[in-house]
Amino acid sequence: EKSILVRDLADKMKINTTELISKLITLGVMANQNQELDFDTALLIADEFGFNVKLKETNVIDNNLESLDYEDKEEDLIPRPPVVTVMGHVDHGKTSTLDAIRNTRVTKSEAGGITQHIGASTININGQKVVFLDTPGHEAFTAMRARGANITDITVLVVAADDGIMPQTVEAINHSKNAGVEIIVAINKMDKEGANPDRIKQELTEYGLVPEDWGGDTITVPISAKKNEGIDELLEMILMVAEMQEYKANPNRKAVGTIIEAKLDKGKGPVATVLVQKGTLKFGDAVVSGCVSGKIRAMFDDKGKSVKKAKPSIPVQILGLSDVPESGDKIYVVDDEKIARNIAQKEQDKAKEEKVKKQENLSLDALFDSI
Ligand code: GTP
Ligand code: MG
Repeated sequence: EKSILVRDLADKMKINTTELISKLITLGVMANQNQELDFDTALLIADEFGFNVKLKETNVIDNNLESLDYEDKEEDLIPRPPVVTVMGHVDHGKTSTLDAIRNTRVTKSEAGGITQHIGASTININGQKVVFLDTPGHEAFTAMRARGANITDITVLVVAADDGIMPQTVEAINHSKNAGVEIIVAINKMDKEGANPDRIKQELTEYGLVPEDWGGDTITVPISAKKNEGIDELLEMILMVAEMQEYKANPNRKAVGTIIEAKLDKGKGPVATVLVQKGTLKFGDAVVSGCVSGKIRAMFDDKGKSVKKAKPSIPVQILGLSDVPESGDKIYVVDDEKIARNIAQKEQDKAKEEKVKKQENLSLDALFDSI
C-alpha cells in the first residue's frame, strides 16, 4: 500500500508541518510529523488545503529502469550545450523569435501559424552550440509546456509588448520556477504601435520577476522578431547565463533521454524525437521507453541529416521503435533488444494493472505529482 509521511506531504503542499498536524487533529487523526498517511487520508487533507487534485499521467518506471538513470560522478561530467526552451502565450511570437534566431522561416509553413509540436534545433552561436526547443502556445498543450520546463536549462519567456502577461505566460513562469530554470524575458513586438515595455516590466514584478534595470535580477531584452532587432542581445544574454551555470553531463555511459515528440509516420513507422540527457545515444542501441521498445535503425539530427550518435543535450529523431512512445516519457538504452522487450512488456502489464486500479482509486503517486 502506498503512503506518505506527514512532513513530506506538508513539504509538497508548501505548508507548515504543525499546520498540517493541527488539521489532521481536527479530522480526528492523531499524527506526528514522521507518521505515514494512507492514500485516502492524504487525499482528504490535500482537498482541505484547497489543492485541486487531478489525475496526472504518471510515468511509472520499473526499478530496473530507475537504476539505469543513475547519477554520474562529478569527475565524469563534461560541459554540454545548454537547452533553451522558448515559452509564452499563444501568438506572442515564440516561433518568430526562434526563426529570427536561426534566420529561417518556419512560421509560414506551419498550418495556421500554430506550432504543432515541440520543434528542436541546434544552433551555433559564436562557436557555442545551443539547443532550442519551441513550444506551442495553444491551451491544449499545457502538459507539453510543463514538460518543456523540466528538460530545459533556460526559459526564454516571450511576452508581446503590445499585449501583456497572459494566462500561459503565468503558466510558463510557474513551470520554470518550479523546475528551477533560469528565465530570460524577451519583450517582443517592440516595433508595434502600442508597445509598452514598462507595462510588461511592471506586470513581471507582480510575478516575482523584477527586471535588472529596476533593481532586480531578471534579465529582460526588448526585441522585434519581425524586424530582427534585439536578437543579438538576446543571444548574448543566453550565452552569459549558460556560461555562469556550466551545464554538464557524462557522455560515456548508456544514454538516457526524454521523448519530446513522437508520431506514426506512414512510411517510416513510429518516429520519435529524443533529447539526449545523459550518455551518448548510438545507432544500433537497444532502447525502451515506457511500453515501447526497439533498436535504433536510423537517426537524424535537427537538419534531417543522418547521424550515428548523439551526445548530451542533442535532439535527434530516431526510427526503429515497436510503437509510438509517449511524449515526456524517458527513454533508456539497455544491453540488448531482448532486455528492452522484457522491460517494455513489464511496463505494459503494469500499465494495465494501474488502469484497473485507477478506476477504483487515484494512485498516490498521481496525487502527489499533482500538488
Ligand atoms: P503559437 O505557436 O501559435 O503559440 O504562436 P507563437 O508564439 O509561436 O507566435 P508566432 O511566432 O507564430 O507569431 C504570431 C504572430 O505575431 C504572427 O503573425 C507573427 O508575424 C507576429 N509577430 C511575431 N513577432 C512579431 C514582432 O516582433 N512584431 C510584429 N509586428 N509581429 C510579430
Ligand atoms: Mg509557435
